[in-house]
Amino acid sequence: MRRRDSWLIVLYWADKPSSMINFIIRVFKRFAWFKRLNAKVTYELLAKRIPAEEWQFMNYGYVPNENEKPLDITLPPETQRYSLQMYHYLASKTTIEGKHVLEVGSGRGGGAKHVAGVLKPESYIGLDLAQSAVDLANKIHQLPNLQFFQGSAESIPLEDNTIDVVLNVESCHAYGSVDKFLSEVKRVLKPGGYLLLVDFRSVENMNLLKQQLKNSGLKQLEEENISKNVVQAMEAEDDVKKERIKKLVPEKWRKLFGEFAGVVGSKLHTNLINGDRLYYRFVLRKEN
Ligand SMILES: C[S@@+](CC[C@H](N)C(=O)[O-])C[C@H]1O[C@@H](n2cnc3c(N)ncnc32)[C@H](O)[C@@H]1O
Repeated sequence: MRRRDSWLIVLYWADKPSSMINFIIRVFKRFAWFKRLNAKVTYELLAKRIPAEEWQFMNYGYVPNENEKPLDITLPPETQRYSLQMYHYLASKTTIEGKHVLEVGSGRGGGAKHVAGVLKPESYIGLDLAQSAVDLANKIHQLPNLQFFQGSAESIPLEDNTIDVVLNVESCHAYGSVDKFLSEVKRVLKPGGYLLLVDFRSVENMNLLKQQLKNSGLKQLEEENISKNVVQAMEAEDDVKKERIKKLVPEKWRKLFGEFAGVVGSKLHTNLINGDRLYYRFVLRKEN
């Protein structure tokens, strides 16, 4: 390639920062070291650059099935209702009251606050790789049974057999090694303890995740494709989400951010509809 052509390519990318970032992520995300670095940089930056206290969730949301009891609590109008429902219906898969709960990948802490406040565990620890997300969560959510710590899913800073329920919401796609995460979950769970997990993947990677869960030594009790519930939530919340992006994100980053946030017409929204991506919910238990 001639030098002038290389400069043209550099100028093309420099003019389109979001396309460049998407391209780099697509190429490198097969490497575990890059996934760890990408998660750390992305989520540190997000909480640092957008410390808005009203933005408390980072999952795509959930509309419950007909057989799930409607949420009968009054929420402040600015609440991201569908993201909160993702937590509520996942946590409702087992008893939370009086239990010791660990959430891995707690983000900005809105889900932790809801579960710790409404479902009344004895204690709730939110663990996240990004120190700035942990600091933000500790600042905006204060409850006597709730604390947030920095730490990695692949090396959980807790003693063996101390936790009754591990929650994991739309986080493990970002880990360098899901196998390491699952062996850490098994180590910290008490016998009889639960892992409740939701996340999305390509079809191939969802098959891999199912295999990893099978090999984890935990017993799988439930597996459910909730893609349509997530698409419904994305569509129901789209106007509000776009307004929030307009308010919080500088113009040149809005397109990239819209993709990340799963607005209607984004790649993720389209792929969840056509089945190229899948969103699943799993319930597992440690037997001994
Ligand atoms: C899409 S966000 C979801 C946050 C939160 N669960 C929610 O639904 O609002 C993914 C979160 O996982 C965290 N994360 C990514 N890799 C991690 C790791 N190895 N250990 C702990 N947390 C991690 C990120 O920092 C981020 O806060």
